[in-house]
Amino acid sequence: MTITTFLEQLADIEAKLQQQASATRSDLEKMFLSNNGLFTIISKQITEVEPTDRKTAGKALNQLKTAIETVLASSTGREVKDKRWVDLTIPGEKPEVGHVHPISQAMAEITGIFEHIGFTRVRYPEVDWDWYAFESLNMSPSHPARDEWETFFVDLPRSDEKGQVVLTPHTSNGQVREMERLGEPPIRMINIARCYRRQQDVTHTQMFHQFEGLVVDKGINIQHLKGTLDYFAEQFYGPGTKSRIRPFHFQFTEPSFEVDFSCHICSGTGEIAQDGKTEKCRFCKSGWHEVGGCGMVHPNVLKAGGIDPDVYTGFAFGWGIERTYTLKKGLEIDDIRLLYSGDFKFLEQF
Ligand code: PHE
Repeated sequence: MTITTFLEQLADIEAKLQQQASATRSDLEKMFLSNNGLFTIISKQITEVEPTDRKTAGKALNQLKTAIETVLASSTGREVKDKRWVDLTIPGEKPEVGHVHPISQAMAEITGIFEHIGFTRVRYPEVDWDWYAFESLNMSPSHPARDEWETFFVDLPRSDEKGQVVLTPHTSNGQVREMERLGEPPIRMINIARCYRRQQDVTHTQMFHQFEGLVVDKGINIQHLKGTLDYFAEQFYGPGTKSRIRPFHFQFTEPSFEVDFSCHICSGTGEIAQDGKTEKCRFCKSGWHEVGGCGMVHPNVLKAGGIDPDVYTGFAFGWGIERTYTLKKGLEIDDIRLLYSGDFKFLEQF
């Protein structure tokens, strides 16, 4: 065999080696170094080369051997059953990072706003006695006012003093509980908890959250209540937002009011100017959004909590977090059920 042919054969083997560089170590060994491997065969053929050319041939053989060894050495890490090649230098995929649910974010924000003016955040049972949810709030067992609360009653043995067990339909069950906890005013409570009612539509879910404020001290009057509502409106909805209270009726407050906040879309005017014309604001229709109730704590409620209504007065307010939150600027969510849909497309926006 001429030296040229020999060298050409070596070059062919080298080319194959490079082609097969990503094969597993055992395949490479078999292909090149086993008894009938390409390298083994060609190295035996060196005897067929002219003796004067053997030195050159030997050198070239050695080079090929080194090349094979290099490829073999770097193939160690790939010795896997699955022969797909893995590029370990590609940057990894970022794991998805979750975030706090929008309603939990709202609860934290509301807590912060009230803590700033001296309220203490508390939590009272979400499965509670009728006594705390109704009776201590001036609603005797057969009182028609109870109907408003669409209550789920729990099938558990009733207590002689505290009646049946209910899923709390509002956070007002925390009022007398807080009076019992503290014994003596001053009381400045913000109670945030889950509530349950038998209703479900675009503005109601059977499980929802409320926050309840209760302040009891000497000389507390409606101005303190109104000031607190105004403060909350500006902090939560932004500067310029106003609160409005309208006469209403609750058994546990006297006088009682419904609470509205001014609409930020039409700035409380109920109208929007568009193309030179004025149109009714579609979001509020009236300039205001009704959110909840409030009033001065009824003397019977103070008595139920062991507080003397001749010495102390108080105010209370309470309403749903879902509704309060969905009215925020830039959100204007018109179906609160979305909040509990578990739909990532929706939740990832917050
Ligand atoms: N608990 C009442 C409701 O759920 C709201 C309210 C709270 C009213 C406190 C007055 C005082 O509608």
